[in-house]
Amino acid sequence: MPRQFFVGGNFKMNGVTDSIKSIVKNINEAKRDPTTEVVIAPPTIYLALTRELADPSIAVSAQNVYDKPNGAFTGELSVEQLNDTKIAWTLVGHSERRVLLREDDDFVARKTKAAIDGGLSVILCIGESLEEREANKTIDVVTKQLTAVAERLSKEEWAKVVIAYEPIWAIGTGKVATTAQAQEVHAAIRKWLATISPEVAENTRIIYGGSVSDKNCRELAKENDVDGFLVGGASLKPAFVDIINSRL
Ligand code: G3P
Repeated sequence: MPRQFFVGGNFKMNGVTDSIKSIVKNINEAKRDPTTEVVIAPPTIYLALTRELADPSIAVSAQNVYDKPNGAFTGELSVEQLNDTKIAWTLVGHSERRVLLREDDDFVARKTKAAIDGGLSVILCIGESLEEREANKTIDVVTKQLTAVAERLSKEEWAKVVIAYEPIWAIGTGKVATTAQAQEVHAAIRKWLATISPEVAENTRIIYGGSVSDKNCRELAKENDVDGFLVGGASLKPAFVDIINSRL
């Protein structure tokens, strides 16, 4: 069965009540490709509001979750609290957390496992730095990031994971990966997934993130192993709907 196209919107630390309401209203009212799965990730403080306002066909995601069930972890957010507020997804391992907050591969893997154990679906972010790409280490880096997660998941649990390949050098820079660059890494990720099982390789969505816009999404969406997008800046703008509809 073909993999369902997937578009995630990562609002990052952007927006206030009025702007979040406006963004959700625009997405709710837009003519959207019904075959595209849409998940939006507002700042934590607006998760409940977004869930309340967003059309039921639009899923809501946290931008991060902690790996422990509860306790003295100031500022953190638990899987239980996401379930309590009807939030069905979470991002984990975004490069901004790996770099700025030094979240390592094992911590990201533990978060992924805790989220899935709690019934959440996970957008697992991976990707290399410019230095790592220029040193031809891209595949080694993403393979290492994925291996840390594979060590904690059963084959079946990969059904709860969408992989977001986000080259760090393309995030927020306007320097989107070329279609060839994206397809090359996505194909390598899918080849690696086949070491888990042919079904996992075939069924896991691999989405691209890094300066995706309404201008470049259509060409990227044509690539065999690009199953959708994780969108940052453009998810805050009306053009986000064009990215949702990039295959129409
Ligand atoms: O998680 C998506 C984000 O990292 C991509 O950001 O602004 O380059 O689309 P942006």
